[in-house]
Amino acid sequence: MRIINCHTYEAMSRKAADILAAQIQLKPNCVLGLATGTTPIGAYQGLIKKYESGSLDFSEVRTYNLDEYRGLTHEDPQSYHYFMNDQLFNHVNIDPANVHVPDGANTDADAACTDYDRMVAEAGYCDLQLLGIGRNGHIGFNEPADEFSKGTHCVDLTESTIEANSRLFEKEEDVPRQAYTMGTQTIMNARCILMVANGENKAQAVRDMCFGPIVPTCPASILQLHPNVFVVCDDAALSLCEGLY
Ligand code: F6R
Repeated sequence: MRIINCHTYEAMSRKAADILAAQIQLKPNCVLGLATGTTPIGAYQGLIKKYESGSLDFSEVRTYNLDEYRGLTHEDPQSYHYFMNDQLFNHVNIDPANVHVPDGANTDADAACTDYDRMVAEAGYCDLQLLGIGRNGHIGFNEPADEFSKGTHCVDLTESTIEANSRLFEKEEDVPRQAYTMGTQTIMNARCILMVANGENKAQAVRDMCFGPIVPTCPASILQLHPNVFVVCDDAALSLCEGLY
């Protein structure tokens, strides 16, 4: 794992946008794995700026998002698909046919997950997978569990995740209780992983991910076994890792 301390959220976001842009420059038809959440918003803004300045072309880029709430259509403003359109896709020249998010509207969980796994596999898995981390060490919606997950599957969200995500909904009762998520094995199949984390409330999760035991109770700890991971953080997220890297 290569840990990069960018000190601030702004610098972390610039670094993440630069790494994503470099991937697109190196391979214009690359497969990007993308994440929602608050952390990558600054990186997405950086990518939009690069596109607007004429230095980045998304026309051949293919994307696969990590997760989606079960039961929400892509037009639902609370869906992750809507979030991605709003935060990135609507502002760059990506071909909508190249955008993939698990189909939350398909409530047949087995079909939705099998279809998504097939699509990611047919694309040859991700060249670069962008990840955020949950306070409990989750990646995608792979929550702490007794074993690591494999392919795309339907999960019951934990109370802590529902509570953390409720800030984006009017009421906590509105937060969906289930989601489809890429599994840990699918994430690990990416050739390169870019983890972004900021803020003090991620400090313990970042420490456990990078320096704790590799255990499914901290799903992100599996990334220690991946040969090509960049952990890009601000000071606060790395505050419990001082002297360790
Ligand atoms: C989102 C996702 C989640 C988030 C994580 C951190 O697609 O997969 O694992 O990355 O919950 O969320 P934020 O960035 O909002 O702190």
